[in-house]
Amino acid sequence: MAATTIRLSSYLCCLLLIVQVHSVNRDNFKTCDQSGFCKRHRSLQPGNSPYVVLMDSLKITPTQISVQLLNTKTNVRLILDLYGLQGNTARVKINELEPLKTRYEIPVGDVLVGEPKQQDIKVLDKASSSITLGLENSKIVLTYSPFRIDFISGEEPLVSINSQGLLKFEHFRKKPEAPPEEAAPADPPAEGEDKKEDEEVKKEEEEKKPEDPEESGLWEETFKSFHDPKPNGPASVGIDISFPGFENVYGIPEHAESMALKTTKDTDPYRLFNLDVFEYELYNPMALYGSVPVMWAHNEKSTVGIYWNNAAETWIDISSTTADKNFFSKIADLVKGNTEMAQMDTHWFSESGVIDVFVMLGPRPKDVFKQYATLTGSTELPPLFAISYHQCRWNYNDQEDVKNVDANMDLFDIPFDVIWLDIEHTDGKRYFTWDAHKFPGSKDMLDAEGAKGRKMVTIVDPHLKRDDNYKVYADAKNRDLMVKGGNGGEYEGWCWPGSSSWPDFTNPEVRNWWASKFQYSEYDGSTPDLYIWNDMNEPSVFNGPEITFHKDVLHHGGFENRDVHNLYGFYVQKATAEGILMRSNNEQRPFVLTRAFFAGSQRFGAVWTGDNMGEWSHLKVSVPMLLTLNLAGITFSGADVGGFFKNPDNELQTRWYQAAAFQPFFRAHAHIDTKRREPYLLPEENRNIVRDAIRQRYTYLPFWYTLFYHGYRSGETVMSPLWVEFPEDKSTFKMDDEYLLGSSLLVKPITDQGATGTTVYFPGKNDVWYDIQTYQSYAGAQNTYINAPLGKIPVFQRGGSIVPRKMRVRRSSSLMSADPFTLVICLNKQGEAEGDLYADDYKSFAYRSGNYIHREFSLKNNILTSSNADPNGQGSTKEWLEKLVIVGFPKAASSVHITVDGNSQSLYHSYDSTSRVLTVRKPGVNIAKDFTITIQ
Ligand code: NOJ
Repeated sequence: MAATTIRLSSYLCCLLLIVQVHSVNRDNFKTCDQSGFCKRHRSLQPGNSPYVVLMDSLKITPTQISVQLLNTKTNVRLILDLYGLQGNTARVKINELEPLKTRYEIPVGDVLVGEPKQQDIKVLDKASSSITLGLENSKIVLTYSPFRIDFISGEEPLVSINSQGLLKFEHFRKKPEAPPEEAAPADPPAEGEDKKEDEEVKKEEEEKKPEDPEESGLWEETFKSFHDPKPNGPASVGIDISFPGFENVYGIPEHAESMALKTTKDTDPYRLFNLDVFEYELYNPMALYGSVPVMWAHNEKSTVGIYWNNAAETWIDISSTTADKNFFSKIADLVKGNTEMAQMDTHWFSESGVIDVFVMLGPRPKDVFKQYATLTGSTELPPLFAISYHQCRWNYNDQEDVKNVDANMDLFDIPFDVIWLDIEHTDGKRYFTWDAHKFPGSKDMLDAEGAKGRKMVTIVDPHLKRDDNYKVYADAKNRDLMVKGGNGGEYEGWCWPGSSSWPDFTNPEVRNWWASKFQYSEYDGSTPDLYIWNDMNEPSVFNGPEITFHKDVLHHGGFENRDVHNLYGFYVQKATAEGILMRSNNEQRPFVLTRAFFAGSQRFGAVWTGDNMGEWSHLKVSVPMLLTLNLAGITFSGADVGGFFKNPDNELQTRWYQAAAFQPFFRAHAHIDTKRREPYLLPEENRNIVRDAIRQRYTYLPFWYTLFYHGYRSGETVMSPLWVEFPEDKSTFKMDDEYLLGSSLLVKPITDQGATGTTVYFPGKNDVWYDIQTYQSYAGAQNTYINAPLGKIPVFQRGGSIVPRKMRVRRSSSLMSADPFTLVICLNKQGEAEGDLYADDYKSFAYRSGNYIHREFSLKNNILTSSNADPNGQGSTKEWLEKLVIVGFPKAASSVHITVDGNSQSLYHSYDSTSRVLTVRKPGVNIAKDFTITIQ
């Protein structure tokens, strides 16, 4: 009874917190100072590393070297494995040589798509102080004493590991039996026990002074009222990674932060620890819902990066300095001259696991994206409806409400593809169920949406209400599938349904069980038009430490949540996506949105940036946040349009729709306490503008779809910083208020209240850019002020590109699937342009057996040629070519004709001399065919 009262009061207190507080309650979340291992690593000072390479232990195979590292202070040995990998990538792994127990490593196939393919590393030089290896065009220098590794390309050092000497590897050890001052004489070591370990521990203990940060939280830790018993003691790992020659680093989402990461001299390190942070603050390094430990460094000459393959809580310090030219001149033919070379230093430390660093050596932005995608996979090609417009709110109250929203969207001619149901649709927050009063006929409702080509999404969170009459919970309980508390019993915590337990998604069998719950026979009232939203999967535990699991929660294989924390949400989405896939016998593409994520989540669906606010600052920060997610491979991402909390005014809503119409995942969402704000409720002027923005999204769907196809094939970003396309243009390196979609569209959303214009930077010395509405042209490599009153979205198409569109907007994307294309051809200064188009059935996996069309368009010497971009694409389609809009064309044409299969036919055309646009009507050719269109 007493326990229930305490639990209930803490739940109520959480709810109160949710209702009353208006900015993040920092007290709920640890600072570095409150985290023992963070403090221990952060207190290390750069200097000579105590680690040396034991050359006698060196083993060389064609693709790998293994060698022991000795900590000269403690005598503990580590094992270093250095691998050459295909695609200009290397892997550096450091583990204990003889750990007391197995340290957690993420199973291959989960985050890494498979065992990375190895590549020969040749020994180029073996000296008394170092060994030099050759990997493709790069060199790897392993220096013995102190231990460090440097990666060099040509004359340029690119990445240095342990050059600051911050390697710290807390080996597993036996817990000292009593505090040192009371300690009884040490027991003789048990049989087989490593004597040295005990001596080291003793030595370490002796060396400690009372305030030594080294001693902080080794064997237990308390945060607020939460005690972390740390049964395994200290086990953290950390090392420094520097990028000589670089001034900017990017990545490591998720933080509400600028795209170019800041130095952490005056702040905490950036933290990666999946957390449900209520009303998060902007521009700080606090952890948010997801973690992708990937970082890029970029300068005019190179792009390189690292992926830190560790799922435990991780912190990253960043500082800028100058490179040690003395050292580099010994190992590389450094660029001449005395100029100082910039350097970014980063320091990574995780609470447990091993050091497993992938070094991706580029050298261009698109190379590193590909290298990373080879390791963790690329964004799966989404079904077309998923990149269309989504209408969500907490909550659409009942079937009638859904019907009304649907009808009003049609009435006001606003297309949408998906309507979403939040937690209130369930029977008492029991996921996979429906509230029988509000949704008595979910199948009818789904069928009605389906008839218009629309879909629905329901929320399915990972916490299960502890109610034996709830069949999903009872089944999980009977099968013993839940995570365990430190005491070994089913872990219990509070979330939306009250007392809850959490299936252990790190266990593959639990994932299979979960996936089976999406079968139509299991999920009553579901149909093929229903897709899924995974929320609260950090996981969010209202009464847990930092609103999440206790760190000693036990998972599959006996690992603690401490070891796997950042993967929990990843696995929830993975299992859900597998369920949606399985229910269609693997034929239809799944769609699952997730809030928590990790490296590799891109393979399972979309990510959104969680509970933002209906404020201008949150609209503004959504751009760098989405750019960073894209850089980290999570290309299918978006922010709640309008902002989740608060009531955005009409102007803010309008500007938000305009921005998001040109961002990858486009969904409006709102908190249950906010006023209703479906776009048709806006006053007429705003409504018309928002309708236009959404309709524009639909006209660009062929372009978006082609972009996602490229991303799927190559791992490229969909929404990109300008430096991805203009890597040598220094002025773009910190620019995160405008961006590119592919290489063709430049977007500068208006994110300031009252703004009626903005200065746009048009990149590219030889480039010309065209306003997508007026076709006015702007020269590259300059800033230009663009008028942007409320109705205007500053979006520009690059001269030299061809963008496919569909101009007949209908109620949903699938109703447009047979509609004809328009090609918008913007000419460059040479009067040329090229582009492509990818099309398939927009929903199934048939494309994997060649049922797709990939066309390549090129306009040169006034002849537009359409040819097959990919002989593997054998698909057919009803879609045809309706129109060409040729922008920047110098004069009216005297004749235009199309040639298909050797037959020519003249085409109707017109010219607007003010906008310099030549329009060619009704080529009428099936888009899958080869053709030429000649302009005279
Ligand atoms: C938190 C999510 O971030 C939000 O989008 C959702 O509406 C609520 N949970 C309720 O499910």
